[in-house]
Amino acid sequence: MHEKIDGTVIAITGASSGIGAATAYHLASRGARLVLGARRQDRLDEVVAAIEAEGGEAVGVVVDVTRRDDLARLVDTAVTTYGRLDVLVSNAGTMAVSPFDALDQDGWDSMVATHITGFLNGIAAALPVFRRQESGQFVTVGSTAAYRIMSPQGVYAATKTAVTVLSEALRQESGPDLRVTLVSPGFTHTEGVGKGTTGAILESMTAQRDAIAMPPSAIATAIGFAIEQPDGVDINEVVVRPTVQG
Ligand SMILES: NC(=O)c1ccc[n+]([C@@H]2O[C@H](COP(=O)([O-])OP(=O)(O)OC[C@H]3O[C@@H](n4cnc5c(N)ncnc54)[C@H](OP(=O)(O)O)[C@@H]3O)[C@@H](O)[C@H]2O)c1
Repeated sequence: MHEKIDGTVIAITGASSGIGAATAYHLASRGARLVLGARRQDRLDEVVAAIEAEGGEAVGVVVDVTRRDDLARLVDTAVTTYGRLDVLVSNAGTMAVSPFDALDQDGWDSMVATHITGFLNGIAAALPVFRRQESGQFVTVGSTAAYRIMSPQGVYAATKTAVTVLSEALRQESGPDLRVTLVSPGFTHTEGVGKGTTGAILESMTAQRDAIAMPPSAIATAIGFAIEQPDGVDINEVVVRPTVQG
């Protein structure tokens, strides 16, 4: 099983912290060659340096997934640096949740742009490469919010539901050469929980996170499991929750 990840070229968005960084460390420890994207160069540099210090291979690319050109640059970096792209992990996300009465239209827009447009930009950038190679895998990070909507997560849940639908639609059109995987985490202990929120919502989300969340390594392992499957085997969906999450 280990050989399947060894040498694989994997691009990850949102790799500067949380689930994306944990996935980068996990896959690097298994021998993957990584292209890591996010907006914060300093945090990205830290992840790349930590991987290289362990003898792994990674390059960082500053990208905003809401921009088409940035996703194209991420994929181009994989192809020019390593000669191919085997897997695109679309993980970048923002949990700027709020009740509708707060009218946080900037937060709503950022979730729509990051999750839906960001995923579509990744498809547009990687699909032609995967078709040319006659192989490739889309791994996309959804959320259990798509399955159990909890106030005040309406807009967040809607965007993750869209991601779930898009991943399944992409799978249906992917044909025999490509693999399409959705990994939907439950509560995961990252800095992203509550980021972009304030006051009582921030307090409640961080308190709940600290009480019940699972480590991001749980999601990294699930992503690795989907990637390490033999050719011809496609893990389409993995849902991972802390046992205590209702
Ligand atoms: N934590 C949970 O409980 C949980 C549960 C279910 C699903 N998820 C999903 O898991 C994914 C990762 O979240 P996380 O919990 O690991 O939070 P996180 O630590 O805040 O990670 C989010 C990552 O996305 C990047 N990002 C955000 N907007 C971006 C943009 N426009 N362009 C490029 N990168 C962007 C951030 O980096 P920069 O700020 O440097 O760009 C960061 O690396 C998200 O899709 C989230 O919805 C999380």
